[in-house]
Amino acid sequence: MKLYDPARKPPKFTEVPNHIAIVMDGNGRWANQRGLKRTEGHRAGELALLEVVAGAIEVGVKQLTAFAFSTENWKRSPEEVKFLMNYNIETLRARRDLLMEWGVKIRWTGQEKKLWPSVLSELRETEKLTAKNKGLTLNMAVNYGGRQEILDAAQALVDKATAGELVGKVTEAKFAKELYLPNMPDVDLFLRSSGEMRLSNFLLWESSYAEMVFLDKLWPDFTRETLWEAISIMQGRDRRFGSAEDRPIN
Ligand code: FPP
Repeated sequence: MKLYDPARKPPKFTEVPNHIAIVMDGNGRWANQRGLKRTEGHRAGELALLEVVAGAIEVGVKQLTAFAFSTENWKRSPEEVKFLMNYNIETLRARRDLLMEWGVKIRWTGQEKKLWPSVLSELRETEKLTAKNKGLTLNMAVNYGGRQEILDAAQALVDKATAGELVGKVTEAKFAKELYLPNMPDVDLFLRSSGEMRLSNFLLWESSYAEMVFLDKLWPDFTRETLWEAISIMQGRDRRFGSAEDRPIN
């Protein structure tokens, strides 16, 4: 896959979101519509993710967080869970070199409990390998749940307080330091494929002022152009972060 394709030029954006969160939804439906097993949809979804990463790099997005496996996904059939766990390992191994070439830094966000140790060690190894890269940061959310992340941060603060290490009041900054990736910036654009309009427990703390864009396209049909379309939709929005001003119509 080409990082820059001269035949596929992005639109000129006045402002590019710094951090995009993506719920890669619709793999199962995409596969079933073609008479295939759901797992084939996940395979197609991996290519869509690479396309979107390339499109994000091209326009200067700094961070992209992809929801690869949620803490609720353990409810799926044992066959699909096993596929997704193994597929994470397979994908990391198969795509590491390409992502290195693209200067991508990979980070893992999620909960250790229940996560297969083999997946965790592959994620850790990939983090180490790509740690010095200066390009886009790709956060892979694997065994991630937003409420759990908030609970874990709260527990960490309670532990600090018990140990007498918490001085003064709890602030947003102190709380954010206890999240899985303390340096993760707030999400600017929250993008979900497949027409579903839900947060599904993804980056709840980080998305408090994110612009929500829901597109009908199923995830495996996403391309870099779809990402650019989502950024264009966001460009038309007026982000006020709670502020307000009079704008009389003359
Ligand atoms: C949601 O679609 C997708 C997932 C739970 C898995 C996401 C995984 C990928 C995109 C594959 C890429 C994997 C890696 C490791 C990069 P769904 O299964 O809920 O689809 P449905 O809503 O149509 O059933």
